[in-house]
Amino acid sequence: MRLTRYFLPVLKETPADAQIPSHRLMLRAGMIRQSAAGIYSWLPFGYRVLQRIERIVHEEQQRAGHIPMLMPTLQSADLWKQSGRYDAYGPEMLRITDRHDREMLYGPTNEEMITDIVANYVTSYKALPLTLYHIQWKFRDEVRPRFGVMRGREFLMKDGYNFDLTKEAALHAYNRHLVSYLRTYERMGLQAIPMRADSGPIGGDYTHEFLVLAETGESEVFYDSEITDLRFGDRAIDYDNEAQCQAVLSEFTSRYARTDETHDEAAFDEVPEARRRTARGIEVGQIFYFGTDYSEKLGAFVQNEAGARVPLHMGSHGIGVSRLLGAIIEASHDDKGIIWPEGVAPFEVGLVNLRQGDASTDSACEGILRELEAKGLSVLYDDRDERAGGKFATMDLIGLPWRITVGPRGLANGMVELTSRRTGESEEMTPEWAIKRLSEIYAPHHAAALAI
Ligand SMILES: Nc1ncnc2c1ncn2[C@@H]1O[C@H](COP(=O)(O)OP(=O)(O)O)[C@@H](O)[C@H]1O
Ligand SMILES: [Mg+2]
Repeated sequence: MRLTRYFLPVLKETPADAQIPSHRLMLRAGMIRQSAAGIYSWLPFGYRVLQRIERIVHEEQQRAGHIPMLMPTLQSADLWKQSGRYDAYGPEMLRITDRHDREMLYGPTNEEMITDIVANYVTSYKALPLTLYHIQWKFRDEVRPRFGVMRGREFLMKDGYNFDLTKEAALHAYNRHLVSYLRTYERMGLQAIPMRADSGPIGGDYTHEFLVLAETGESEVFYDSEITDLRFGDRAIDYDNEAQCQAVLSEFTSRYARTDETHDEAAFDEVPEARRRTARGIEVGQIFYFGTDYSEKLGAFVQNEAGARVPLHMGSHGIGVSRLLGAIIEASHDDKGIIWPEGVAPFEVGLVNLRQGDASTDSACEGILRELEAKGLSVLYDDRDERAGGKFATMDLIGLPWRITVGPRGLANGMVELTSRRTGESEEMTPEWAIKRLSEIYAPHHAAALAI
């Protein structure tokens, strides 16, 4: 992509109404534009990151054996009356009446709809286990939408629902989700810690929230510092293997880690004092097992092996897809701008031409651009006729992880510069070597992708 042909409305001033770094930086880097309180347009640069994040979520869900689909944003009130949540949900639900005076709503979540779908098609235990998910816009009329995409009213969520014959099978689905979430967040360069959470109005005994530690987080968290040393890494996992998934859950949840809602001072005091931490965190996901409540209310029953009619055991599992952009930036930025982790970089390489219009720098840049793209790397080429300082400031603000700088002085010796956004370190090398290095840097990220 050439910057002269792109749409990247970068702001020079710091927006006055944005209170936290991620909100300020998303506005300044031309990623989002507010259209109403808590409702945003995703400008091309922001949309690219959103797509990267969605793609990783899809790949990791499907790697775990979960099946993608798409349900509508608008729902009829009927099923919600059946589940008892139409009144219980309160003013957070956006209620709409159509021209025939039918009660509709903009879905804040999809338990009712998916349970109804499964109830209509699944009649035998032979169709189980089954986990269906979608990535769809939600609407919750939050009293105080704030911090940009972090607490929006309209936001993108991955919500998945498991349907199982027994509690044991449903708990395996729960564990499988926990494992797949660990992988998902790590691929995005994030450490998200599973913490024992409060099940709230949805009910049930089993629930964990995934929190990214950040000063600006809305939740207060308490944890044993040993937990931050854990990494899922690239270990192989068989998602059908119950013992393996259970072992990962035990490894990642046996130490003390809770949000303020479930915090227990006495239990926390048992953690050695030197390891006790109090901090703030951003909730980027949550998993639940809640049993047969919805199945019973919405008629999702199957015949078991003995021929008896039994309600399905269910759980629901969410990832805050649009919120993740904010969380990643909160966890990864400096005073110059964003620092994208390689796994979600909107463009993998920034290419800066220091003397636009000079025949030899122009043709060197064109060659490098072609080569990088041929290697499967995405490039944003700053081909504007602008001073070096301005080009560097833009690159630092928008945070591409790697930059190749091409100028007449270096080219005279056959050299370009490769710069890491994270460390700020630059190295001179030949264009061929820079391209090779970048291919190596991105190889593990490309290899982690799943053909879906
Ligand atoms: N208002 C919001 N704006 C952006 N993301 C949200 C919002 N509410 C929830 N999310 C994201 O969706 C995920 C799943 O939602 P859920 O757990 O049902 O929400 P909550 O914990 O707010 O009830 C949350 O972990 C969070 O990352
Ligand atoms: Mg939650």
